[in-house]
Amino acid sequence: MNVKEIATTPFDDQNPGTSGLRKRVSVFAQPNYVENYLQAIFDSLEDFAGATLVVGGDGRFYNDVVIQKTIRMAAANGFGRVIVGRGGLLSTPGASHLIRHYKAFGGLVLSASHNPGGPEGDFGIKYNVANGGPAPEKNTNAVYALSQKMSRYLTVEADDVDLSVLGKSTVAGMVVEIIDPVSDYAALMQTLFDFDAIRALFASGFRMQFDAMHAVTGPYAKAIIEGLLGAPEGTVINGVPLPDFGGGHPDPNLVYAKDLYDLLMRDDGPDFGAASDGDGDRNLIVGHKRFVTPSDSLAILAANAHLAPGYKNGIAGIARSMPTSAAADRVAEAMGIEMHETPTGWKFFGNLLDAGRVTICGEESAGTGSDHVREKDGLWAVLLWLNILAVRQQSVDAIVRDHWAKYGRNYYTRHDYDEVDAEQANGLVAALRQKLADLPGQVIEGYKVTYADDFAYHDPVDGSSSAHQGIRIGFEDGSRIVVRLSGTGTVGATLRLYLERYEAPDGDHDQETQAALQPLIEIVEKLAEVRRWTGRDAPSVIT
Ligand code: G1P
Ligand code: ZN
Repeated sequence: MNVKEIATTPFDDQNPGTSGLRKRVSVFAQPNYVENYLQAIFDSLEDFAGATLVVGGDGRFYNDVVIQKTIRMAAANGFGRVIVGRGGLLSTPGASHLIRHYKAFGGLVLSASHNPGGPEGDFGIKYNVANGGPAPEKNTNAVYALSQKMSRYLTVEADDVDLSVLGKSTVAGMVVEIIDPVSDYAALMQTLFDFDAIRALFASGFRMQFDAMHAVTGPYAKAIIEGLLGAPEGTVINGVPLPDFGGGHPDPNLVYAKDLYDLLMRDDGPDFGAASDGDGDRNLIVGHKRFVTPSDSLAILAANAHLAPGYKNGIAGIARSMPTSAAADRVAEAMGIEMHETPTGWKFFGNLLDAGRVTICGEESAGTGSDHVREKDGLWAVLLWLNILAVRQQSVDAIVRDHWAKYGRNYYTRHDYDEVDAEQANGLVAALRQKLADLPGQVIEGYKVTYADDFAYHDPVDGSSSAHQGIRIGFEDGSRIVVRLSGTGTVGATLRLYLERYEAPDGDHDQETQAALQPLIEIVEKLAEVRRWTGRDAPSVIT
């Protein structure tokens, strides 16, 4: 093998955030930018000679270019085998499963998740470790440090691999195996869910619409929902992955999946609607005339998981990210199982899942998953919902209402302020932090503060600590305000306000969400002075 050492100069902006390195395509397209970062990842790893690397992405613009670079560099750095999804496609949970299934050393997932794609859009590179989950912070810090010192990268001279043809070939002695991205994942889903029951549900006339948003879940949803589960053709829409996602924003929320939402609100709309994001790890769940918030979805899935074969013996525990509503906490309490509140980002669930302390995890940002992989999994959530619907033979609306009648309702909303000047956003958070110590005991607009802190997490498995994970202000009636800055934005700062109010099982569950939360919206303005710091009158996005 003829390894070439190519001189490079370091970049100072290759700091992987919560979800890997994410930048504009124009940044990634700079000469040596991708090579520099990949070499920093490879240099941070040990003892991988001859080992397997899983590689794939969400099909966005530049995916194919980076995959070819990765193959050549993996060969030069001494990997023995690279497994690539056909067409360069692998969903994030699909990649997580393949790493585990083939006992790979790790994997590279190429995606900027729900961010727009195309030449003007975003790109991203994330390294996942052998358990299938995102590299922990100590690894990503090491990669960042190495990237700033990089002086050379290793590659080989070789033709591009044809990514469209299944089968094996070699590149400079390394095996390259192109596999069907869907089949192993579909097999895993069949071990977890009652496909016969769901097939019978569709056969009985149950109608669904799944919006793949021209992103990676198209082939997965078509093969599983229309193929294995027999839903009529046309159930999956926008099912062909496109490099620019058809010009859309592959973020399954009420803003970017509004057409789906509107369809489900119609009298003649289908029974069930769902969508997933660019790389297939997020999910949106909408029943006929009933939107299910991700926080409620987590709680309902946890409470009903035993109805699916993969979870029939019950679940060990639940974990949720700190800003996610406390709806799941009430389920855990009733079931007498462990409940964990972790910082934002899926990587914080990894240790709890590996240790068998929790089975189901979720985030308010439309991420739900379980111990079957080490990433959140959009289609998994959709299939668990379908399994529950098939067994309970009730509408989504009825299941949600039953849940509130048993556990109470956590009204919940998130207000995002995008592209805020970073200095102003940091100023707002710093000023609010100053006030925290004085808040407990104060009564603001009739709400009594019981605690106020800057969330710090102590991992019960490995003992590590993560401080400054967002400001929490809790009130006597179970209401809560959370203020934090996004760790995934690519331009300026994104300020996120999370508001939650609890209504008891016998309370009024029929209020409009923003109206129900109005008192808390006023309190957060009073405490954080969002208008003054940001110069904005209203959030950019309300979810
Ligand atoms: C956002 C979400 C968070 C999720 C992350 C990656 O991060 O809020 O829950 O884990 O994307 O998908 P943020 O931009 O808030 O840091
Ligand atoms: Zn995603």
